Amino acid sequence: KADDKVAMMEAHELLAKLYHHCLVNTAQGAKALQYLKNRGFDEETIARFQIGYAPNSWDTATSFLMRRNVPLELCMQAGLLGKREFDGKYFDRFRDRIMFPIWDRNGKTIGFGGRILDEGEPKYLNSPETLIFNKGSNLYGMHLARPNMRKKQQAVLFEGYVDTIAAWRAGVTNGVATLGTSLTDDQAKLLKRNVASIVICYDSDQAGIEATFRASSILAKAECNVKIAQMPDGLDPDDYIQKFGAEKFNRDVIGASLTVMAFKIQYFRRGKNLNDEGERMLYIEEVVKEISLLKNAVEKDHYLRQLADEFNLSLEALKQQQFQINKQQK
Ligand code: UTP
Ligand code: MN
Ligand code: MN
Ligand code: MN
Ligand code: MN
Repeated sequence: KADDKVAMMEAHELLAKLYHHCLVNTAQGAKALQYLKNRGFDEETIARFQIGYAPNSWDTATSFLMRRNVPLELCMQAGLLGKREFDGKYFDRFRDRIMFPIWDRNGKTIGFGGRILDEGEPKYLNSPETLIFNKGSNLYGMHLARPNMRKKQQAVLFEGYVDTIAAWRAGVTNGVATLGTSLTDDQAKLLKRNVASIVICYDSDQAGIEATFRASSILAKAECNVKIAQMPDGLDPDDYIQKFGAEKFNRDVIGASLTVMAFKIQYFRRGKNLNDEGERMLYIEEVVKEISLLKNAVEKDHYLRQLADEFNLSLEALKQQQFQINKQQK
């Protein structure tokens, strides 16, 4: 079984090289290379993240691996190949996709994410869970980001491949991604072992905001210091950098990240007319409820006072309301 793992990683290593070669040096890869260039990827970035292209073929990877005497059954178990039921023939699982290698924390390739070039489903075809690829305990880009994380004592958490890479080009070299899945306790612990503070920088669409709430409570449970970066209009980090540039991303997104409570306050405020008494009361109740969940008494006091000041309420009244909410929650 240990031998199987080594062989699987070797197969990944070989294929990552093949895919990278197809992208950079072959005519079949020209369309994919142009796609990446249009999205702002330069040669250095493509090399650093070993981005590749899986040709539109059923047997490029299969025959390549066969020529190298890599056991194909193992490659199938590693999620690199498929196998036809009726005759047991192996075939390439990734076809006509931009290939993002996924590494473990030591930089060994353990999986791939394959992006379709145009529109289509699925947008990303990813390696399945295998003997070597455990999604919930891995973070994309960790081996590259770790030294920078430690230096800055901060990590930035993204949703995807392209965001991590675009941010790196923008100078944010301490970023990793959860790759579309929810952050796990294991991933939170892995971050906690390396840094004091974590900035969540997920997409600013509804799905991203909901994922931000979930991730922030998992990180809080792991006793991480959490900040949340904000972007406007449903943009994701890559969109934002394309639109506004690296400098503004560093300053107004990463540099201006909010505490979790400040982020939630903004979130509750969104779309509400606070001049309307009913909406104002609802807003105050939501914020008080959130404050009552804080563990730190000083923080609690700070946000209660802030709320009291803003709406000209007595601190006593807010404390009373908080008391009632606590009672309901018990
Ligand atoms: P997004 O849909 O936000 O994609 O998914 P993206 O990263 O912005 O990609 P581009 O810019 O359109 O190329 C975020 C992450 O969720 C995972 C991928 O890891 C992706 O980077 N995902 C998304 C999948 O695994 N499968 C999908 O079909 C979509
Ligand atoms: Mn190269
Ligand atoms: Mn998204
Ligand atoms: Mn996105
Ligand atoms: Mn994107």
